[in-house]
Amino acid sequence: MNDRPVPTRRRFLALGLGAAAAAWGGALAASRDDDPCLVARPEARLAPPGEPGSPLRVEGLVLAPDGTTPAAGVVVYAYQTDATGVYAPPGRPPRLKGWMRTDSDGRFAYDTIRPAPYPGGRNPAHVHHQLWGAGWPAQWGNDLLFDDDPLVPESERRRSASLGPFAFVRAVEEHPLHGALVKLRLRLRTAGDRFEDGTRHGVDACRHGRGGR
Ligand SMILES: [Fe+2]
Repeated sequence: MNDRPVPTRRRFLALGLGAAAAAWGGALAASRDDDPCLVARPEARLAPPGEPGSPLRVEGLVLAPDGTTPAAGVVVYAYQTDATGVYAPPGRPPRLKGWMRTDSDGRFAYDTIRPAPYPGGRNPAHVHHQLWGAGWPAQWGNDLLFDDDPLVPESERRRSASLGPFAFVRAVEEHPLHGALVKLRLRLRTAGDRFEDGTRHGVDACRHGRGGR
């Protein structure tokens, strides 16, 4: 299925965070009041105001596996590097992250800054997405890559293009209000994924509100 994650590459990118962050997810949800899934709205801010970097807004749509039915009430967890390509100090969860819950039309949006590639690496800049809840098992959504990023390999561009409306190498539009705007469609799969150590910080933080599953 052409919208499935690519385990090898995704795992490599995701684990750039480092397994040392694994223990942190559980510590984030000390009480229901702290549970980000219980308070998740269709929009979130990944980067705090004043975060260095180029402003970016991502407007997304989550669809069921049929590719046409909007998926309401789904938790979308997004995380990324900062403008220096760093997730967080060693042993910490990603600093720039956010939880959203799709609206009745399956829509979500987040405001952030453009991520940078890992320092010294050759991986393209990217934003990770994980999805769960509203009856759907926890799973990776496609990473967002940027079509003006010279580090995006041709193989990824071709794979993205083959996905049609679910292409993940996305155009960056200039926007008078948001600086830059990217639109993205994520397609759910029936089968879930097992999140490896170091990539569970999103679900682990939602100890009380994992979306009804
Ligand atoms: Fe990554």
